[in-house]
Amino acid sequence: MSKTSLQYQLSQKGGHFAIVSIPRPTPGPNEICIRMKAVALNPVDWKNRAMGITIQSWPTVLGHDGAGVVDSVGDSVKDFKVGDEVFALCGTDKGEGDRAAAFQEIAMVPSHYAAKKPAFLTFEEASSLGVCYLTAACAITVGLHIPLPYIDPTGGSSVKSILVLGGSSTVGGAAIQLLRLALPSATILATSSTKHHAHLISLGSDSKRAGFDAILDAVTAAASQPDIFSAFNPTGPKTYSQVVTGVNVEVPQGVDSTLIYAPQIFGEKGGMNAMPGLTDLLQSGKFKLPVKVEVVGKGFDAIEHGLDKLMKGVSGANF
Ligand SMILES: NC(=O)c1ccc[n+]([C@@H]2O[C@H](COP(=O)([O-])OP(=O)(O)OC[C@H]3O[C@@H](n4cnc5c(N)ncnc54)[C@H](OP(=O)(O)O)[C@@H]3O)[C@@H](O)[C@H]2O)c1
Repeated sequence: MSKTSLQYQLSQKGGHFAIVSIPRPTPGPNEICIRMKAVALNPVDWKNRAMGITIQSWPTVLGHDGAGVVDSVGDSVKDFKVGDEVFALCGTDKGEGDRAAAFQEIAMVPSHYAAKKPAFLTFEEASSLGVCYLTAACAITVGLHIPLPYIDPTGGSSVKSILVLGGSSTVGGAAIQLLRLALPSATILATSSTKHHAHLISLGSDSKRAGFDAILDAVTAAASQPDIFSAFNPTGPKTYSQVVTGVNVEVPQGVDSTLIYAPQIFGEKGGMNAMPGLTDLLQSGKFKLPVKVEVVGKGFDAIEHGLDKLMKGVSGANF
């Protein structure tokens, strides 16, 4: 067994990537090591390459989404074993030497950041799910105070109508599906380009306008459309859940606003059920890929080309 592992390191802000050999990681008691088979590219990856928005020190390793095969498990890990096919939220728990980032041969993550991959999903498809699903789940539970039944079966909500801004983004498409699970009879409307309307209705959104109790903003659309807050139902709870994108929104007084960052979900009641719950939702057909997956290439160098493409903007696709 090799004593080393490869990392795709970025030298500096706006710099170049280099493949660097590091000692093979050894998991802590509650961690697993995943030998990566596929990674997904997120908007935060190109923002970090170009602007270093969340980077503390350089060189660094990027990547928040990955899928692969369990390579080793910590002594206290019960839910995974070597050889399991999994996908995970990566990179948010930086740790020593960027060991949790996705863009490397073996990534080491807390075991509750990972989920078993259903056999019917490819590694590429599975790699696209962690960030968008957890961000959507967090935006609903933490931001809108709407419990998801499989995470916290004891909770309830009086929300009757929700507007999802950016419904055709990966986060928005995940949010529509989870909202439909949580509130089967609520009105869920979503904004997107007209070409995506039929797909969003197939995920569970409605097509008629209403006064909204809650707004989930997946793409910081309210920054350029501040009048969107007039869409609130004047007598409703007026909750606004804003996925952190690096852009600020002027939120009017009287609106209950929360900034959302995916790993917050793990600190919530039942949050440790979030990733195992996703495997069950996928297996039962209750959660589908929010957008189609486009494979941009193979090997570390495909990451750089994919980030160039992502920076120019995508519509209805995940890399
Ligand atoms: N805080 C976190 O934990 C976290 C996690 C994940 C993502 N994010 C951030 O959340 C944002 C979305 O990420 P993503 O991966 O879901 O993005 P994505 O899939 O790349 O979203 C692209 C889509 O957003 C839609 N869009 C963009 N601006 C819009 C607007 N003003 N109104 C309506 N739709 C708009 C476009 O839809 P049409 O094609 O229909 O026009 C486009 O297809 C990014 O800024 C990302 O950095 C944050």
